[in-house]
Amino acid sequence: MADVETDVLIVGSGPAGGAAALLLSTYGVPNIVVTKYGRLSDTPRAHITNQRTMEVLRDAGIEDQVIAQATPQRLMGDTVFCSSLAGEELGRLHTWYTHPARQADHDLASPSSICDMPQHLMEPVLVDNAVARGTALRYQTEYLSLEQDDSGVTATVRDRLRGDEYRIRAKYLIGADGGRSKVADDIGLPMVGQMGVAGSINIVFEADLTALTAHRPSTLYWVLQTGSDVGGIGMGLVRCVRPWHEWLIVWGYDINGEPPDLTEEYARRIAHHLIGDDSVPVTIKSSSAWTVNHLYAETYQNGRVFCMGDAVHRHPPSNGLGSNTSIQDAYNLAWKLRLVLNGTASPALLDTYSAERAPIGKQIVDRANRSIGETTRIFEALGLLSTDDPEQLRRNMDARKLATPAAEKQRRELREAIEFKNYEFNTHGVELNQRYASSAVLSDGTPAPVNPRDDELYHQPTTWPGAKVPHAWVGRGDQRLSTLDLGGGGRFVLLTGLGGEPWVAAAAELSVPAIVIGPGADYEDIYGDWARLREVGDSGCVLLRPDNYVCFRSADLPAEPGAVLRSALDRVLHPS
Ligand code: FDA
Repeated sequence: MADVETDVLIVGSGPAGGAAALLLSTYGVPNIVVTKYGRLSDTPRAHITNQRTMEVLRDAGIEDQVIAQATPQRLMGDTVFCSSLAGEELGRLHTWYTHPARQADHDLASPSSICDMPQHLMEPVLVDNAVARGTALRYQTEYLSLEQDDSGVTATVRDRLRGDEYRIRAKYLIGADGGRSKVADDIGLPMVGQMGVAGSINIVFEADLTALTAHRPSTLYWVLQTGSDVGGIGMGLVRCVRPWHEWLIVWGYDINGEPPDLTEEYARRIAHHLIGDDSVPVTIKSSSAWTVNHLYAETYQNGRVFCMGDAVHRHPPSNGLGSNTSIQDAYNLAWKLRLVLNGTASPALLDTYSAERAPIGKQIVDRANRSIGETTRIFEALGLLSTDDPEQLRRNMDARKLATPAAEKQRRELREAIEFKNYEFNTHGVELNQRYASSAVLSDGTPAPVNPRDDELYHQPTTWPGAKVPHAWVGRGDQRLSTLDLGGGGRFVLLTGLGGEPWVAAAAELSVPAIVIGPGADYEDIYGDWARLREVGDSGCVLLRPDNYVCFRSADLPAEPGAVLRSALDRVLHPS
């Protein structure tokens, strides 16, 4: 007999565990979170919160709470490359879709905006709302081991305050226990890649840097100076935590040598080097060492145990994908657990979690690591093999100011090298084109759409089954909603147009809400965007899963829409 019972036990209260708890509680699934420490994250860590994550939070009803605390997009994107904040500027890049041309892509893609929400602010929003909706949260509780059988999982945990151990019995267990996941180890998830590729330190500090930064507002200031090519994430980084007085430095160290002694004096010296002005008062809040990893799990599940977040994809912060991918993992699994637990779907539906999310994890681990390597183009453009010699560094930077053919070439190469960093800071396709292939997605026989633009840089909206539903504004009276707002809420939803009314009757038989979009119908296609994006005719349909992914579509009205829809839903919910 276990001491405590629940439906889902979640190990970890970071972005993955917090989001899983929030969504499960929103769906009414009983769950317990155990977390090792007596607090949530005490440092800013992850921060870029992309549009897809904001869509998840919008569906969970907490987007406004995040917007209220986050740094907005307009203050995020004048990314600077410089020799120090007070020193010479090498160039800027419009990032996070703040270039006027990319701003249009951003605004067209989603009802939600990218923002900067540091992890120590995000976690309380996720976890507080989860608890308010029913999650039982146990701080100071360490997961130790698990056993699983045909009907559930028994985990042994230690109460770190009392020191005793007890058991929690759950129907399913989620390991969201981060980059040193014991759960992933215990269930033997197959891992590919390497931990400890490079050494890095974070320094969190307070300093009023308004005069050096507010005229070029950005979340990231990249600093090229002696030592900035060693370890770390490609260059020295001064990251804004709260404009313009709280900051986080990322600085590398040689992983093959001794890790630096993180004294306050050492941290202050680095901060002053990167600021470029020793007279600026700096208050060090914390320093910590971490490693750049290049590791992903090939599968995310073993029986009744699932892993998500850093437990299964470990990579550097480049591209800002860490907590975003973790929250999106949770969004993929939570509705499936709900439907299996309430008997609506077969347990085989849960196998689609790993089938859908593991390829995404591999993609983002590879993408983030590639971005570090691509920073060397900036060093190469300046003719630098290393930054060891400060005099050489200065001479090479100065050389670009000459009126010579060599300097002109250097200027061009530097411009191109900085522009190439779009693959780190403006990867709209990486963020929004994540396509799923599994038994929870029914092919309509059409080939995968080919993106006419670069698939990493640009989002390609499509209703191709396995893609997220395209965003279009639709209206009713004085209301304006996104097509994403029509879906979500833990339900399957069918979208059709005029002439598609038989789909509505068919959906009603299956207790699936159906919405007709068209003149005089449930919602108006106010800009005509939905008709342009939906890739089916008026009498066709698009069936959305609870995570707003398209699982089935029909170009037009078949002879027996009821049978077609019943069969489609049945195949999604009860994969053979
Ligand atoms: P996360 O590590 O956030 O959470 C794990 C949770 O599990 C914690 O609550 C922990 O207490 C708990 N736990 C662990 N073992 C347990 C056990 N045995 N029993 C119970 N609970 C247990 N990303 C980014 O995009 N930008 C950045 O700047 C940074 N910076 C950064 C710095 C440092 C030092 C680290 C370690 C990580 C980053 N990251 C980052 C990565 C980013 O923070 C990361 O992708 C997300 O936190 C992943 O969220 P998870 O919820 O998966 O793990």
